[in-house]
Amino acid sequence: MKKLIFEGAEAKTFLTEFAGKKAIEKVRAEKNYRRKELDEKIRKNRTRDEANLLHKAKTVGVRTPVIFGVDKKNSVILMEYIKGKKIGEKIDSLKKKNFQEIGKQISLLHLNSIVHGDLTTNNILIKKEKLFFVDFGLGFNSKKTEDFAVDLLGFKRTFLSSFPQKEKEWKQVEKGYCKKARGKEVLKRIKEVEKRGRYL
Ligand SMILES: Nc1ncnc2c1ncn2[C@@H]1O[C@H](COP(=O)(O)OP(=O)(O)O)[C@@H](O)[C@H]1O
Ligand SMILES: [Mg+2]
Repeated sequence: MKKLIFEGAEAKTFLTEFAGKKAIEKVRAEKNYRRKELDEKIRKNRTRDEANLLHKAKTVGVRTPVIFGVDKKNSVILMEYIKGKKIGEKIDSLKKKNFQEIGKQISLLHLNSIVHGDLTTNNILIKKEKLFFVDFGLGFNSKKTEDFAVDLLGFKRTFLSSFPQKEKEWKQVEKGYCKKARGKEVLKRIKEVEKRGRYL
């Protein structure tokens, strides 16, 4: 059994089986506009980095799918299937504390030097009130306030453009983010980046 469930710009995501259970296979497809050797290198590196970050996030207490295997040659990550919903699909039934928890988990990633790189309401899943982060394909390690600010601002933009009526809920995400160290500093930087953006 192997069923395509999502096709993004960079990868195809399949629902499959592993050890008798549902599993997810994320395959980075060839990009013909890139030179073959370069393309292979990029896909291999991103696959490796994504698997490393998925695992690292878990070790710092942020829920992510368990990795069952990595096929670097074919740029495939085989991982646990999270039987949940994207937070975007559940947005109207999420409570204040869920939004705060989203912010708190992002700050936990940042405080452990993990920048997600593609925070959207599709890349955070919720299963019985528990949040799972997926898609670290654009992630990297950093301790810089600027990188944290850009990461959270990216989320703010996609969040509010998908759900413009959810300003209050976004404020709860920020509140949760500020519960841990450096939160205020990062929000201050976001304001600066937004100002800069306006005058570019
Ligand atoms: N481990 C998983 N369990 C359940 N659903 C997943 C899992 N990984 C990915 N998905 C679903 O597949 C979608 C695409 O996966 P993702 O890693 O975000 O790929 P892309 O880089 O193409 O966006 C996600 O938005 C999510 O809905
Ligand atoms: Mg994604």
